[in-house]
Amino acid sequence: LPEHLTVAGGRLHIGGHDTVALADTHGTPLYVTDEDRIRANYRRLEDALTAHYPKVRVLYAAKANGNLAVFRILADLGAGADVFSAGELCLALAAGMQAEKLLFNGSSKSTADLALAVETGVKVSVDSLDELRQLNAAAAAAGKTVRIAFRVNPAIEVPTHPKIATGLATTKFGIPAGQILDAYREALACSNIDPVGVHCHIGSQILEVEPFVREMEVLIDLARDLLALGVTIEFIDIGGGLGVPYHRETDRAPTPQDYAAAVMPVFLAGIRDLGIEPELWVEPGRSLIADSTILLTRVNSVKEAYKTFANVDAGFNLLVRPAMYDSYHAVVAANKADAPAEREYTIAGPICETGDLLAKDRMLPALAAGDLIAVLDTGAYGFAMSSQYNSRPRCAEVIVRGDDAALMRRAEDVDDLTAPMQQPAWQQ
Ligand code: LLP
Repeated sequence: LPEHLTVAGGRLHIGGHDTVALADTHGTPLYVTDEDRIRANYRRLEDALTAHYPKVRVLYAAKANGNLAVFRILADLGAGADVFSAGELCLALAAGMQAEKLLFNGSSKSTADLALAVETGVKVSVDSLDELRQLNAAAAAAGKTVRIAFRVNPAIEVPTHPKIATGLATTKFGIPAGQILDAYREALACSNIDPVGVHCHIGSQILEVEPFVREMEVLIDLARDLLALGVTIEFIDIGGGLGVPYHRETDRAPTPQDYAAAVMPVFLAGIRDLGIEPELWVEPGRSLIADSTILLTRVNSVKEAYKTFANVDAGFNLLVRPAMYDSYHAVVAANKADAPAEREYTIAGPICETGDLLAKDRMLPALAAGDLIAVLDTGAYGFAMSSQYNSRPRCAEVIVRGDDAALMRRAEDVDDLTAPMQQPAWQQ
């Protein structure tokens, strides 16, 4: 277990808080986040990078966890954000992040998105020439200049789930390397666009450093060509993607130090050679926040069938990663954390689909109705990807820090399901 997860009196604790007591107080299912763990993860990454080069900017990849309390922690640490929607942009601003620290990413921005980018003064990662022209028009209409990077598609294969490998030549993301110089040429000629950086993101949950090294090489090569075109390079953004060891016993995830030790020499040699000193931007999501959070879920019933199923109250409505990517999350019997593992269980959610299994074939202590299961490493892409499928109100999220524990989002109820619904006049 990571150091913020401990066992005392046979019960799992997070940040010193008894998970059984948290579940009794707030009900289940329940997400619980340890603020100090986010802070420690952030500092470890920032320190690892700034040990090599001072001009580093960490942009939190807001899609990983969109709770305002999480944004505020990162704002307090000095982070900016990679925002991928108008909603993420507004939340980042609401949390106190300055517009100059925000990069508006996205492969399909609407007219309204572009207008918001112009109005708020954030930088924009432009994903197509069509978008560039629309953005220039929006900026001209407002009498403003927008600072942009293009997102380059580096055509790099990465060892991860195909649904989250974003840097392949075949994906929808970025501008193919063969077209990128023409794109910058056109941007230089735009009246209200100022190209000031380069952006790339190769994928997520990457457990090797080598793809990031190749990505950095692509970006340095691109920077060289851009300088020749007359582009001023204020930042080089290598995106996010550093993985976490979900298989706690067998995964070997690079540490932030490993990551920095692999990527920074290429960056430093490159910029020295080019005679520039741009900011280095990184966009971590998962590595900052995944392990800060657990999902507590109660066993409703145990069934001996083809397998032994522990039927719990959280399903892919609250944690879609196992169903969507066959992801593995470690599970702990939170109220029997000292007990020996005795039997194999498959942890099944309450959703009406065969694929609604949070964990398969796990050795756990003997389970009974009422027991509490903790699903680990659920801070990134956990609640953020939740839904109300099967008309299930979303659960609460609690955050702990030191001796304090507080709701950072209340549980929804049936009224939250019906509130946005309208009754057509002919049904009244
Ligand atoms: N920057 C960009 C442009 C991105 O698209 C992403 C993630 C990140 C940064 C952050 O990547 P990270 O450091 O978190 O790996 N829902 C999937 C992950 C999707 C990632 C999408 N983009 C999952 O649950 O595994």
